[in-house]
Amino acid sequence: MLAWYDRHRRVLPWRALPGETPDPYRVWLSEVMLQQTTVAAVRPRFAAWVARWRDFASLAAADDAEVMAAWAGLGYYARARNLVAAAKAVVADHGGVFPQDEAVLRTLPGLGAYTAAAVAAIAFGKRAVVVDANVERVVARLFAIRTPLPGARVAIRAAADRITPDTRAGDFAQAMMDLGSGICTPKAPSCLLCPLEPECLGVREGAPEALPVKARK
Ligand code: ADE
Repeated sequence: MLAWYDRHRRVLPWRALPGETPDPYRVWLSEVMLQQTTVAAVRPRFAAWVARWRDFASLAAADDAEVMAAWAGLGYYARARNLVAAAKAVVADHGGVFPQDEAVLRTLPGLGAYTAAAVAAIAFGKRAVVVDANVERVVARLFAIRTPLPGARVAIRAAADRITPDTRAGDFAQAMMDLGSGICTPKAPSCLLCPLEPECLGVREGAPEALPVKARK
């Protein structure tokens, strides 16, 4: 996966280029924006946001009405309110330095399990198990996990934990995300292009696109 990522990684405005140090503020902001919003919709909003508030200190001092206007159209406005609250907590409680520890990150407003793991891995290189909907699909297929969602999440997390490397955890997480969004797509996955294809139990069993199984309503 890491070798594949080195060749095929998407270039995105919040990602550090190889050899650069990631900016935790940008990583965190992008992960929050991307929670219920597509990469295409986030790109211009991310650029405008970081031009207006470039770091935790400036966001902590932001005007609420201006923040809400900058968020307009992204939906789920609690995310924007939590961004400002978290920036204030970073300044007030952490000396203006974003905490690196996943458990400490989780104490900040709006940082749930996914976001704390994503930030710990991507911004700080910590080993963390990062599972969003794309990664969930990749893992369910790779291990042919047939339990329906949401029950399958326990097995999917355990499998994701087993394949997460001790080093380059952030690159690994983003490789899985890129694979899920570009190759291991919900319909008609491009298995011929997939670096995991030789290992994929979903492929071996004949119908990767049928995974993960959704619970019947
Ligand atoms: N979706 C959520 N986080 C992402 C990231 N870091 N890269 C690409 N897509 C994402």
